[in-house]
Amino acid sequence: MNILKSSFCTVCTLLATIFSTHAQWVTIVNGQMWTDTDGNEVQAHGAGFLNLNDTWYMIGEDRTDRWHPDVNMYSSKDLKTWKFEGKIIKNGVSHPDLGSERMIERPKLLHCKKTGKFVIWCHWESRNYGASEAAVFVSDSITGPYKYHWSGRPLGIKSRDCNVFVDDDDTAYFISTIEENQHLGLFKLSDDYLSAVECTELFKWQRREAPAIVKIKNTYHMLSSACTGWEPSPCKLSQSDSLSEGWSELRQIGNHNAFDSQPASILKIGGTSDTTYLYVGDRWMDPGLPESKTIILPIDFSDGNCQFEYIESFNLNIKEGTWQPTDASR
Ligand code: GAL
Repeated sequence: MNILKSSFCTVCTLLATIFSTHAQWVTIVNGQMWTDTDGNEVQAHGAGFLNLNDTWYMIGEDRTDRWHPDVNMYSSKDLKTWKFEGKIIKNGVSHPDLGSERMIERPKLLHCKKTGKFVIWCHWESRNYGASEAAVFVSDSITGPYKYHWSGRPLGIKSRDCNVFVDDDDTAYFISTIEENQHLGLFKLSDDYLSAVECTELFKWQRREAPAIVKIKNTYHMLSSACTGWEPSPCKLSQSDSLSEGWSELRQIGNHNAFDSQPASILKIGGTSDTTYLYVGDRWMDPGLPESKTIILPIDFSDGNCQFEYIESFNLNIKEGTWQPTDASR
C-alpha cells in the first residue's frame, strides 16, 4: 500500500513539475488580432509598456472608433494572456476636447519612483495633425483613474510621434518627432516626470518617427521609422553611448518595410537564465485602423550587432527570459 502511495505521489510531483515548467512557455503568434481573457479583441495600438511586480501593463489606442481613440490598459504575466484593466483615458470624460478637438496617439506609461505616481505621456493631436502637441495624465494607482495634467507643445516645440525612456538613474525622457517631422527631440523630464525641462535635437533633418530606445550595458539602441503615415518603412537602428550625442549613422535592420510594421516599443525580458529583447510594432491598416495588428519579434543585440528577423510564431518563457522558434516557424 505504502509503495503504491509513494509511487502515486512521485507521479503527481513529476506531473506538477512538468506542468509548472511547461506552463511558463507561451506561444506568441504574429499577424492575428489578440483577444483578452474576456474573449474581446485587444485594442492597444501604438502600445506603451511598464513592468511592475512581475506584471506587464500595456496601454494603447483603442481604435474601435477609428479617429476618436480612447486609451485601454491590459495586464499580463506572460505577454500572451491579456486581462482588460479598463479604459483609462476616455473621450469626453478625461478631457472635454478629447474625442472632438483632440485625439490621443501613442500613449506611453511611466512610474515615477520619486513621487510614486504613474504618468502617461502621449501625442495630443487635432484631426489634421496641425496641433502637434503632447499631453500628460497622472494617477496614484497604475490602473487609474488617470487625470489630465497638461497639454501643449513641450517647451513650445511642435511635437508628434512619441515615446518615453527611463535611464538607469531614473531620469526620464520624452522623445518625439519635432518641428514638422524634421528632427527627433529628446526632452529631459523634470524629477516628477510631469514636464519637459530641456530639449536636444537628434537626427537633424532626417525625418524619423516612431522612436523606441533600449539601453544594454552602456549602449543606447534606438529604432525608428521614416515619416510615411500608416505605410510601413524600413526600421533603422542607431547606437550611442550617450543619449544626447554621438548617435551612429542610421542603419536599416530587417527587411524593406520592417516586416510590414512600425516600432512602438522595445521590451527587455530579464529572466532567471537569460535576457530576451522583444520588438513591438504596429501593422497598421490591416485592413482598417481597428484591425491593425500588434507584432512581437525577438530582437538580438548581442555583440553590438542587431538581428531582426520575422518569425510567424515563437515560444516565450518570461520567467527564464528565453525564447525559441515553434516547429511551425522553423
Ligand atoms: C504615422 C504615425 C502614427 C499616426 C499616423 C497617422 O506616421 O506613426 O502614429 O500618427 O502616422 O497618419
